[in-house]
Amino acid sequence: MKAVNVGLLGIGNVGGGAYQILGMNAEKIEKAVGAKVNVTKILARDKNKKREGICPEMITDDPDEIINDPEIDIVVEVLGGVEPAATFMLSAMKAGKHVVTANKAAVAARYDELMKTAKENNVEFRFEASVGGAIPVLNAITTVLKGNEITEIMGIVNGTTNYILTKMTDLGLPYEDVLKEAQELGFAEADPTADVEGHDVANKLCILMALAFDKFVAPEDIPTKGISQITAADIEEAKAAGEKIKLIAHAKLEDGNLTYSVAPKRLPNTHPLAGVSNEFNAIYVTGNAAGELMFYGRGAGPLPTGSAVVGDIMEIAKLVK
Ligand code: HSE
Repeated sequence: MKAVNVGLLGIGNVGGGAYQILGMNAEKIEKAVGAKVNVTKILARDKNKKREGICPEMITDDPDEIINDPEIDIVVEVLGGVEPAATFMLSAMKAGKHVVTANKAAVAARYDELMKTAKENNVEFRFEASVGGAIPVLNAITTVLKGNEITEIMGIVNGTTNYILTKMTDLGLPYEDVLKEAQELGFAEADPTADVEGHDVANKLCILMALAFDKFVAPEDIPTKGISQITAADIEEAKAAGEKIKLIAHAKLEDGNLTYSVAPKRLPNTHPLAGVSNEFNAIYVTGNAAGELMFYGRGAGPLPTGSAVVGDIMEIAKLVK
């Protein structure tokens, strides 16, 4: 039985989390897959930076050393941003590698091309970690819920903004202080504008809609409003009315017509999504057979997001071992 070799493109928050999980749960993973899963090469900008627990010989600053390595079975892209991430993934697929990514911006921006290239090259392409961190919502939508017509999705899918809104609401903390904290905890994007202006949520809603409704809507075509204009007064006003402000990704199918938006909404405290706090995410899905379901968990952070990346690696590893 051969070992399954993985090349990591990136070793930031998510890459570091996935690497840590593959090490700390190695025995369990080997048993479940039926083969060892080894990270053999890692792409990093700074080759010479010391990284605890990572052997320096594994690090390269040349993506081709991973993409064209005949020993590597699975390329894991965790660089973030559309480019060069998308080009690396497409090249890896063309080189016959299976691809796993956590990169919602790249998946949303190049969805059709990535799906088509994976199919043409007969390779697996998995991106569970791109929506909702640890929450296996994409798996659920594409497998056990496939027999449903999904009629509505309502989600809190950005950990940073949910963390900010929670701390502003519960502790009355100022927006800037909480954003800084979210960045330190590894929740925020490299440029947190994508979080606070709702673009990250639009990317995730685009992916959810493509899988749930089989309809691709480019993120820039999703009406999007973030939370940067929410004031302490808005939060107090909602509180006084027994409501919470949440940044909601919403898509609804009615009479064959799909409507969608990303916007802050006031939800009554009794709404299931109002109880979703801090970096937690939740996706409320309605299917015409299953009824209402709520998927809840940590939507950001190295280990939760790494958990979904590792799950995808393992599903592919089972096929290639
Ligand atoms: N910046 C994102 C968030 C990371 O805060 O949810 C996870 O996609």
